[in-house]
Amino acid sequence: SNPSLLILPGDGIGPEVMAEVSKIIDWFGAKRGLKFDVSEDLVGGCAYDKHGTPLHDDTMAKAQEVDAVLLGAVGGPKYDVLDFSVKPERGLLRLRKEMDLYANLRPAQCFDALADFSSLKKDVVAGLDIMIVRELTSGVYFGEPRGIFEEGNERVGINTQRYTESEIDRVARSAFELAMKRGKKLCSMEKANVMESGILWREVVTEVGKDYPEVELSHMYADAGAMQLTRWPKQFDVIVTDNLFGDLLSDLAAMLTGSLGMLPSASLGAPMENGRPKALYEPVHGSAPDIAGQGKANPIACILSFAMALRYSFDKGDEAARVEEAVNAVLADGLRTADLLGEEGVQPVSTSEMGDAIVAKLEAS
Ligand code: NAI
Ligand code: MG
Repeated sequence: SNPSLLILPGDGIGPEVMAEVSKIIDWFGAKRGLKFDVSEDLVGGCAYDKHGTPLHDDTMAKAQEVDAVLLGAVGGPKYDVLDFSVKPERGLLRLRKEMDLYANLRPAQCFDALADFSSLKKDVVAGLDIMIVRELTSGVYFGEPRGIFEEGNERVGINTQRYTESEIDRVARSAFELAMKRGKKLCSMEKANVMESGILWREVVTEVGKDYPEVELSHMYADAGAMQLTRWPKQFDVIVTDNLFGDLLSDLAAMLTGSLGMLPSASLGAPMENGRPKALYEPVHGSAPDIAGQGKANPIACILSFAMALRYSFDKGDEAARVEEAVNAVLADGLRTADLLGEEGVQPVSTSEMGDAIVAKLEAS
């Protein structure tokens, strides 16, 4: 049977960018015989409008069954007044939590035509293609004890960095699996020099590495890693790190390459019976209410999120590369949505013009 994909366009520009992904999915089905069983459902504010909850139980159940979930974005000013328990982002949080998505993948990929956009020197970023794997469900954002307590005559704020061996083991495995599909190079980052959790992290990652003898494993202190990421990011292929360091390093790496409208992401969980990891793919950006409904949104982040699904859920690395090459080609032709405009005198293209141009490049490839 065909691989299954649940599409959740969401709110704001979510449906606009997802419409362009659908063109690409249709193209693969019609022209390359690569068919998906696609179902579509609601998440976020639009789900609240219909069901009174940002994620219906039926949608949750469907997400657990499919091979991959592709989400647009959720939220908008209309929903700001809602009670916290039914806010649009609660739908997304529920998906992540119940699917137990512990590995957050954030690529930093620089398309040649946008190398001038980076705040770094062009030769530092041109051709850059690295992946940061951030542990997403544990560590200092969740560890107990936590809170603000009275201590003597003042207060103390406490958070606890806590990692079990199994939590480190599973995210390390996700990272090694990714490295196998990429450049077979993995750098693990922690602070084993000053943190016990870092010592355990390094030990467990090293142990997991014995199951992946083809992958070249290295270790780096996370502060040195931040320096190396800005000095010469191309030395890396896959980086694996904990929740806190990953939060910082993935934002840093993302901005090496430019616009929010270009950034895809994935969150992976445990392997299912068919060997594929539970997976949710989504652009990094939100629902962009300031430009929603105007045809201005850049669909590339969402399109690249689908390319990640092709590579990491469906084992279609060649097809993923074709999508990425098509994106590179339209950018090289000078096509820019409004968020990418730098040069004067360039007319921006609309969301759907960008999508059509990418499909045309696929057709020509
Ligand atoms: P945002 O990412 O929606 O927008 C930030 C800025 O970037 C805006 O000026 C927007 O126009 C621009 N932008 C974002 N994506 C773009 C694209 N594809 N093409 C062109 N320009 C783009 O973040 P913001 O404004 O903080 O949040 C807006 C809403 O989105 C809020 O309700 C927030 O809760 C929600 N949100 C949802 C996320 C998700 O669904 N994963 C993530 C972040 C925010
Ligand atoms: Mg962050």
